[in-house]
Amino acid sequence: MAGTEGTGHGKIILLGEHAVVFGRPALAAAIPRGCRAEATFAAENRLSVSPWGVHVRADQAEPEPDRELLRRAFAEVCQRLPEGSRALCVEAVMEIPGGAGLGGSAALSVAAIRACHAALGVSASDDEVIALSLAWERVFHGNPSGIDSAMATRGGLALYRRGEPLAPVSAGGALALVVANSGEHGSTHAMVASVGRQHARDPIKTDQIFDAIAAVVQNGKTAIEAGEHARLGQLMDLNQTLLNTLMLSTSTLEAMCQAARAAGALGAKLTGGGGGGCMIALGRDAAHAEVIAEGLRTRGHDAFVVEVT
Ligand code: PMV
Repeated sequence: MAGTEGTGHGKIILLGEHAVVFGRPALAAAIPRGCRAEATFAAENRLSVSPWGVHVRADQAEPEPDRELLRRAFAEVCQRLPEGSRALCVEAVMEIPGGAGLGGSAALSVAAIRACHAALGVSASDDEVIALSLAWERVFHGNPSGIDSAMATRGGLALYRRGEPLAPVSAGGALALVVANSGEHGSTHAMVASVGRQHARDPIKTDQIFDAIAAVVQNGKTAIEAGEHARLGQLMDLNQTLLNTLMLSTSTLEAMCQAARAAGALGAKLTGGGGGGCMIALGRDAAHAEVIAEGLRTRGHDAFVVEVT
């Protein structure tokens, strides 16, 4: 099937989620898991996603709301393929959970878009892929900052600001991060909408929180470049406190962050939309991160270690 495959990266947000929707910077890192997709010619445009067991046809409305969102997102992409393109069957395999703050929806979109382009012989730039992915993401998230689409397409470790290209960041030393799933479904759409309402109600206070997060991000970038991981960990904790004031955490995520810190994590915070989904914790090195991950597993959470360089 060579030539008809596409992949999209999953990502974690190290610092800056939600404030990034309001124009502040955020730091994100791609993870080695994401989505793989394959496209073949078919009688109509359709998409299957495993292991979700979901199948949608671009032209046929779905009665179930989540499937209908997926169908509409896929239809947005199909409409933007070159005119006269043959219909395609896209089969995608998710390597990360959805609704977990790991950019699953953007990873799926980028894998599907790249598979379609490969099957049709379309050569598209990263920016074109990102633009298509954003059309998909707008269906799911309403007001995406674009960080997920940019990271799913380009990968790496980078600083992102809305409307600007990703600015790659080089780490002064490998970051050993634990990614652990609370098991609670987090709706990015609902969380972004909630922060939007808070901002509409009290713009001065909310902008102050966003500005504090922006300062954490800028300091975090310097800490990463200098390899100062203890400082980065403190900034992650501070970011978590600020996310808490925006009511984005849950008691489970808080308990997980506390457990990680008790196991010696340099810092811990939720990642992505919040309201459930995943948290991340920074270990001293990969072996220490594995100890933290094991502790979270014994509490019943899926956890894995990612090394970011
Ligand atoms: O929950 P995720 O993985 O889609 O991450 C969302 C990140 C937010 O900053 C909350 C939203 C956005 O569009 O940037």
